[in-house]
Amino acid sequence: MPKSTDYKKEKTNQNMSVSFSADKLKEVQQIIARYPEERQKSALLPVLHLAQQEFGGWLSTETMDYVATLLQLEPIEVYEVATFYSMYNLKPIGKHLLEVCQTGPCMLNGSEEIVAYIYEKLGIRPGQTTADGMFTLKTVECLGACGYAPMLQLGKNYREHLTRQKIDELIASCSGQSTVATT
Ligand code: FES
Repeated sequence: MPKSTDYKKEKTNQNMSVSFSADKLKEVQQIIARYPEERQKSALLPVLHLAQQEFGGWLSTETMDYVATLLQLEPIEVYEVATFYSMYNLKPIGKHLLEVCQTGPCMLNGSEEIVAYIYEKLGIRPGQTTADGMFTLKTVECLGACGYAPMLQLGKNYREHLTRQKIDELIASCSGQSTVATT
């Protein structure tokens, strides 16, 4: 078993294909500088966000290992965090990520029907992506908009009080269609 430092060195060598641009590395340093010295682990969440944004919208093992190297952490410390929070994607996602809240208030107001309707429209279940790479469906925990249940997040926007018609409109607009499907 290699020593931890050797392990990190080996991982660094394997990670040549994943690396931030000079500008992004500067951003990482600025994030780390917000926290006390030796507490670079506190920068993990924002650096993972940055990595997800930069490397195709998801975190591969290679990307997580790269983040571990940057923050001088063990890879397992990064995996633990990345697998805990639903905001990190651990496999490739489609162009449009539909994150449907499935916690109590949304569930009581029909989130399961919304998920079922998305399956009816797009043929994808939670965790799946359409064959054309356009849509990924994900179910997530409370997004803090319980008063607008059922709701979903699409990119940085919330879509609230969802109905079948609103899902039709959403899919049509993401697909670049001018007419709205009605079923
Ligand atoms: S329960 Fe869905 S936003 Fe809170």
